[in-house]
Amino acid sequence: MHPDFRQPVRGMRDLLPDEAWTLRFIEKNARQLAELYGYEEVITPIIEYYDLLAAKIGEENRRRMYVFEDLGGRKVALRPEFTASIARLVATKMASSPKPIRLFSIGSLYRYDEPQLGRYREFWQANYELIGSSKPEADAEVLSLTIDFLEGVGLKDYVLKVNHIGILRSILGREGMHEERQNIIMQYLDKKDLDGAIRAAEEYGVSNKCLKSLKNLFSIKVDDKDEFVKKIGNEVICEYPEAEESLRNLSDIIDLVKGWVTNAKFYFEASFARGLEYYTGIIFETYVPELNIAVGGGGRYDRLIEIFGGGEIPAVGVALGVDRIMIAMEKQRVNPPKTRRARVLVIPIGESNIAEAFKISAMLRRHNIPAEVEVMRRSLSRALSDASRRNITHTVIVGSRELSEGKIILRDMRSETQETIKIEDLLDKIPS
Ligand code: HAM
Repeated sequence: MHPDFRQPVRGMRDLLPDEAWTLRFIEKNARQLAELYGYEEVITPIIEYYDLLAAKIGEENRRRMYVFEDLGGRKVALRPEFTASIARLVATKMASSPKPIRLFSIGSLYRYDEPQLGRYREFWQANYELIGSSKPEADAEVLSLTIDFLEGVGLKDYVLKVNHIGILRSILGREGMHEERQNIIMQYLDKKDLDGAIRAAEEYGVSNKCLKSLKNLFSIKVDDKDEFVKKIGNEVICEYPEAEESLRNLSDIIDLVKGWVTNAKFYFEASFARGLEYYTGIIFETYVPELNIAVGGGGRYDRLIEIFGGGEIPAVGVALGVDRIMIAMEKQRVNPPKTRRARVLVIPIGESNIAEAFKISAMLRRHNIPAEVEVMRRSLSRALSDASRRNITHTVIVGSRELSEGKIILRDMRSETQETIKIEDLLDKIPS
C-alpha cells in the first residue's frame, strides 16, 4: 500500500460540501448560459484515442497527457480538453447537421501540470463551440458569451487578452517557415519566452527584415484596439500585407463586440500565442487581477475538423476553467447564493415514534421540501442544537402525547418559536 494513500494523488483534490456547492453553482450558470445562447449539451467520453487528443494540442500539452494502454492494447488518454472530441463528433456523427452547430460541454479534464494554486491535474471546464461560420459575428458571439459567463457568476473585474494568430503565421509563412517550426516559436511565446522565440526564428534562418518585424511586433501591448491596429499597421503590415487581413478580421470582431457589450475591458498583445496548435484566427484568454493564470481561453480553429475527416468546417470556441473561476470568485468576494429554501429535521421522541417520523419526512419530500430524520437517537436538546449548527430552518418534533391527537410540534429554528399543530396542517406552515 502506498504510504500516502490517506491523501488524494498529487494534483487531485477532494471538494468538500462548500466547494462542491460553488462548483455546481458555476455549472448551473454555465448551463443556463448555454441555453440562453442556444448551445446544446453533448457528453463525450473521458477516455479517447491518444492520437485524436494529441493531434493538434501542442508539444507542451502533449507531454502532459495521462496516456496508457487499455486492456485491449489500445493507446488511449484521459481528455485534456473538449475541443478535439467535439471536432471528432462534428466530423463524424454530426457531419450533415445543418450549420451553425452550437455545442456545450462541461466536465472534468486531466493534465499532468505542475500543481499550484489554480493549476491541478484534474480540473473542470465549461466549453462552448460555435461550428460552421467563419464570419466575425461568430467570434464576436463567443467573446460576448465569455463576458456574460464572467458577469453571470458575479465577477466584476476581469480583462480579455486578445491577439490574432494569423498575424504571426503570415509573417513566418512568408519566410517559407514550415508549420512545425512555426509551432515551436508559438510554444516559446506561450511560455512568454520572447527571447527564445526570436532565437528560434534566427536559428531557422529568417531574414533580417523578419527578425526586425518580429521584435517590433513583440513590443506591442496596448489597451486600445485602434491603437493596436495602427501600431501593427505602421510597424509590420507594410512589410507583410498578408497579415493585414488578420488584423482587419481582429478589428471587425472587436468592433462588433463593442457594439453591444459596453463594459468589457480588452488588452491587446501582439506576442500572445496559445499552447494549443489548432488556432487559425483570433485567440483570447481572460484574466482577473487577483490571479496570474487565465480563467478562460479560446479562439478560432478553422482546420481542426478537417483533420478528422469532416471537410473544411470553420469553428470558434471558448473554455472557462471552473476551478479558477471558483478562486476568482473567492478573491473578489463573490459568494454563491446559499439555498434560502426550508430545510426540515424530523426528531422522533422515543423509539416508538421513529416510523411516524419517517412517514412525515417522506410526506415533506413528496411535496419537494427537503427533510431529514434524526437517526442518531440523540436527546431532544442535543438534536436541536445540532439542527441550528447545520442551518436547519424547521424541526418537527414527533412525541407520543401530541401524536395521540394527530399532532406534532413545529419549531421555527430562526425565530426559536414553536407551536403544536395538526399533521395535515404541516405543509401549509413550511414555505416550500
Ligand atoms: P486552455 O487555455 O488550454 O484551452 O484551457 C482553458 C481553461 O481551462 C484555462 O484558461 C484554465 O482556466 C483552465 N485550465 C487549463 N488547465 C488547467 C489546470 N491544470 N488546472 C486548472 N484549470 C486549468 C482549451 O482547453 C481549449 N480547448 C479552449 C477552446 C475551446 N478553444 C476553442 N474552443
